[in-house]
Amino acid sequence: MASEPPSLKTTVLPVDATKLGSLEARNVPTDYLDDLDIELDPHSVDAQYLCQAAEQLKTSDIPVAFPTETVYGLGADATRSSATKGIYKAKQRPADNPLIVHFASLEQLRALLRPSTDGNDDATVAQSSEDPIPSIYKPLIKKFWPGPMTIILPNPPHSPLAPEVTAGLTTFGARMPRHPLALALIKTSGKPIAAPSANASTKPSPTAAEHVAYDLNGRIETILDGGPCDVGVESTVVDGLSSPPLILRPGGISIEQLRECEGWENTQIGYKDSSEKDTKPKAPGMKYRHYSPKATVVLFESGKKAPTWSDMAQYIAASKKLGVIRTKQWTVETAGETGPIAQKSADEVKASTQTNGHEPSKPGFAGMLQTIHKQHVQRSVETHVVANAGADFTLLDVNLGGNTADIARGVFAALRDLDRQDVDVIFVEGISDEEGDVAAAVMNRLRKAAEVKIVA
Ligand code: TXA
Ligand code: MG
Repeated sequence: MASEPPSLKTTVLPVDATKLGSLEARNVPTDYLDDLDIELDPHSVDAQYLCQAAEQLKTSDIPVAFPTETVYGLGADATRSSATKGIYKAKQRPADNPLIVHFASLEQLRALLRPSTDGNDDATVAQSSEDPIPSIYKPLIKKFWPGPMTIILPNPPHSPLAPEVTAGLTTFGARMPRHPLALALIKTSGKPIAAPSANASTKPSPTAAEHVAYDLNGRIETILDGGPCDVGVESTVVDGLSSPPLILRPGGISIEQLRECEGWENTQIGYKDSSEKDTKPKAPGMKYRHYSPKATVVLFESGKKAPTWSDMAQYIAASKKLGVIRTKQWTVETAGETGPIAQKSADEVKASTQTNGHEPSKPGFAGMLQTIHKQHVQRSVETHVVANAGADFTLLDVNLGGNTADIARGVFAALRDLDRQDVDVIFVEGISDEEGDVAAAVMNRLRKAAEVKIVA
């Protein structure tokens, strides 16, 4: 894809969602989901920044980056072709990869599903008593919206969606994010917002405003900074139009959670990753280049013992700088006999499964404010110099801790952090897909990032 040199002035606007004004859930007795009432405080700087971003979404063809509870999104008015084209241009995204459309209420989604056919551009709701949202999605929406779940819907005849959003498909992905800034931005603009993750194409998804700035500096004008993301991996994409229902991308909602819902008991995995069980190193630069830093990522599947010096030797021959991302079992020893990475004892593993203070947010709009994190992205990268047969190595260590939610929250930031420090190889300690929560999503992303996968 032709790329123009970055030439825009990129501004990061810090916005504290608790200072926007009043945000309140309103019960809609006739419906199965609450609505959200937002009243912006005219004296709030935060609200002014938000309005500035909403105005750009309405009038400009340059997309706006904003936080969601999963990852940062790069938003544009989903009904304007020139605006959605701006997303592909800024990210340098291949045109055949469709975008997810973000809504702030069921009313807004229904309006899009029932467009008027009288040539009026505003998608006004036609008179019809039937819910245009397929009933299979009802239990899911009730339970997981607003939140990290995207549902696949048929794109209606006379759809107001720009053709770039669906990339030629007859369906589109719809999501209602839980982050209050995302909801407020959608409400204030009054538009459904198409938004992929706000990284440069092929790079790890951004979980903090600084990640967006690093990738898209000069390519966009505005980044709303709402702090680090709560979930850390993207939404689960589900297809309830197929039978049995499928997970097209694992994410913030697990298969176990989906299967608890009526009609979703037999949900199947409709994506591929764990079948790629290569025991030998793969050549770099394969078709799965995705979520990838510059460094070679060597992924150790769960159950595989920490690498010894001789395991590491084949990757570190040309390298003096190594990165390690550890999770549940590995520990770093500066004077290790067999290698700098060792297995923890059972007691140590148990002790490390505590969270670092983040409780998962409550469901529904009630959990909205809990998705905001003011503290900065964890930067627990330490440098060790370790001796191996007289040679010294620098080892940059990221310890994501033993808790699956913390691992998800930190995994993309860890890959980026090590990459910025120019390590040549990153050894990653995988976790088991079965460890509930978002484990399958974490491993899916790591398998895509890895050039070399070591399986047990
Ligand atoms: O959490 C998220 O979903 C984030 C935030 C910003 O909301 N967004 C995100 O968008 O991850 P993106 O573009 O990076 O990923 C969208 C995924 C892609 O895998 C795309 O192929 C799939 O959703 N997708 C979109 N529309 C689809 C459709 N009609 N059918 C099947 N897959 C679709
Ligand atoms: Mg993406």
